[in-house]
Amino acid sequence: MKEKSALIVGASGLVGSELLQILLNEGAYRKITAIVRKPLGIQHPKLEEKTVDFNHLDHYSEYFIADDVFCCLGTTIKKAGTKEEMTKVDVGYPLAAAKLSFENGASKFLVISSMGADPDALVAYSRMKGMLEQELSKVGFQSLHIFRPSLLLGNRKEFRAGESAAGFLFPLLSFLLVGPLKKYKAIQAATVALAMYRAAQSGKKGKTIYLSDEIQDIAQ
Ligand SMILES: NC(=O)c1ccc[n+]([C@@H]2O[C@H](COP(=O)([O-])OP(=O)(O)OC[C@H]3O[C@@H](n4cnc5c(N)ncnc54)[C@H](OP(=O)(O)O)[C@@H]3O)[C@@H](O)[C@H]2O)c1
Repeated sequence: MKEKSALIVGASGLVGSELLQILLNEGAYRKITAIVRKPLGIQHPKLEEKTVDFNHLDHYSEYFIADDVFCCLGTTIKKAGTKEEMTKVDVGYPLAAAKLSFENGASKFLVISSMGADPDALVAYSRMKGMLEQELSKVGFQSLHIFRPSLLLGNRKEFRAGESAAGFLFPLLSFLLVGPLKKYKAIQAATVALAMYRAAQSGKKGKTIYLSDEIQDIAQ
């Protein structure tokens, strides 16, 4: 099989950093480009890091060349400051990365959305993720993989109160989340990362949406 190239945006995040390690250490890709806003501090013969200004991604079109593109971008309202800034990071940047890489020949795009994503949702966060999914579907990728995890678990560098409380409660209540409720179980960031890697190797065409329990199953 031809060795492929991968591109990742959001490689410094909770899921993205796990995914980057998998991309570097597994055999599917000969080259991995990480588009970052500050250096990752990682040296690896397969890794090519490109530092950019995310507000002007179109200035860096020549960096967006890869077979498979992984998007782990995202922020919180607390970090972004305003709804507009948050939408820029959660919708604008992923969409710009998708369009640039598609124009440069990428056939596959894998993105982390969220449980409950729906452009008509009442909750702003779910609506924003739904909008992203809707817009990505129009880009034209041969293969679009959308991951909708529940609460993410993992060793986050910063403290997020809501996430920590939920991360404590979810495992305690996990025994209740069976059958159709399985998709609400919290999930390890490393599991999402592994599922993304595996889905990229699956050869599936068209749009595929993975709910949290399906993400868990792929990674098992
Ligand atoms: N947290 C949850 O429980 C949960 C649940 C479901 C879905 N999700 C979604 O899953 C995805 C991944 O989550 P995560 O927790 O792994 O994310 P994260 O740790 O917050 O990482 C986010 C990534 O986005 C980058 N980023 C943030 N703001 C940026 C900006 N203004 N310009 C450029 N890059 C920026 C970060 O880069 P820097 O390191 O440079 O900041 C980092 O690489 C997100 O889309 C999130 O919405 C999260």
